[in-house]
Amino acid sequence: MYKLLIRPLLFLFPPEQAHKIVLGALKVARYIPGCRFLIRLMFRRRSKLLEKELFGIKFPNPVGLAAGLDKNGEYYNDLANLGFGFMEIGSLTPLPQDGNPTPRLWRLPKDRALINRMGINNRGVRSALQTLKQEHPKIIIGANISKNTDTPNEEAGKDYARSIALLYDFVDFFVLNVSCPNVRDLDRLQGDNMLQQVLDSVKEVIRYNETARPVLLKVSPDMSRDQLDVIIHLALINGLDGIVATNTTRSRSNLVTAEKTVTAIGEGGLSGAPLFEKSLETVRYIHAKSNGLLPIIASGGIMTPDQASRMMDAGASLIEVYTGFIYEGPAFAKRIVKHLKKRMKK
Ligand SMILES: Cc1cc2nc3c(=O)[nH]c(=O)nc-3n(C[C@H](O)[C@H](O)[C@H](O)COP(=O)(O)O)c2cc1C
Repeated sequence: MYKLLIRPLLFLFPPEQAHKIVLGALKVARYIPGCRFLIRLMFRRRSKLLEKELFGIKFPNPVGLAAGLDKNGEYYNDLANLGFGFMEIGSLTPLPQDGNPTPRLWRLPKDRALINRMGINNRGVRSALQTLKQEHPKIIIGANISKNTDTPNEEAGKDYARSIALLYDFVDFFVLNVSCPNVRDLDRLQGDNMLQQVLDSVKEVIRYNETARPVLLKVSPDMSRDQLDVIIHLALINGLDGIVATNTTRSRSNLVTAEKTVTAIGEGGLSGAPLFEKSLETVRYIHAKSNGLLPIIASGGIMTPDQASRMMDAGASLIEVYTGFIYEGPAFAKRIVKHLKKRMKK
């Protein structure tokens, strides 16, 4: 029904508008008696077999929703009904920011992909905090945080630390986004000295809290092996809890969409099917190089349940989807869960 009817209708709208329509519909469902229950009944699938304990958190299943869909942390309890075992909200920055001018999101249907240069538009950590205080999450929440675009990289540590301090008691884990290709120079935070500075600030704020909150780092798929080695080393010596691999790519290779169309779009991060092999290789490399010591959440181009399995085989402990959810629809998490369960039984 989604692919035959709803998706063609939604794809008539510009992507950012379609996104708002879907999230708006989820909001409306809150006020229709029994609707949330029905959605939950349709899309949620419980499975003892797939429960997983990782960095002190018990995940009901390993399929998560990646960052960027619920940027402000407004829809987590609606999205919780769609069968995800966890989700990321954000990226959130300490201060609200508008992001890049529109248009900033495009579909490449022939490639089952998206290109975005949203630029981390969000209402800021305090806005999310307000919602989190009012509405207790019914799903495991990772807060994906980043620095404000105007904050120089040299002072980025303060931004990450500020957001962590504010959100500490209200989310389950943190993801440091240092890899978004759509904020000027942000991915340079993945370099040796800069990253150490960020991690020092983060460790400082965590030290003063009694309860543990896992901290993961989200990396780019566009790094060389040498750059990845530095990150793996820093992650291990600084006691990071894991890596989210990967963010979107700057690469435009292997696309079927006409070159003219792709060039006209310009800069931005590519997600979806063309990203899969690159992310898979990154997951495999991190897993091998860290001797399996760094838990990995795989994100990047998972468009079928089988690709979710391949990420797990490559060393991922959990997986996340975004573009696959847009193309495959609300039953996507449930389908992956069903597939993984079958695979476990074998
Ligand atoms: C429109 C859009 C917005 C995104 N915003 C963020 C973001 O704010 N922070 C972040 O860490 N990743 C963001 N991402 C990246 C996704 O979380 C994910 O890592 C990436 O799209 C690869 O997964 P996919 O191929 O399943 O989409 C965004 C992706 C898209 C398509």
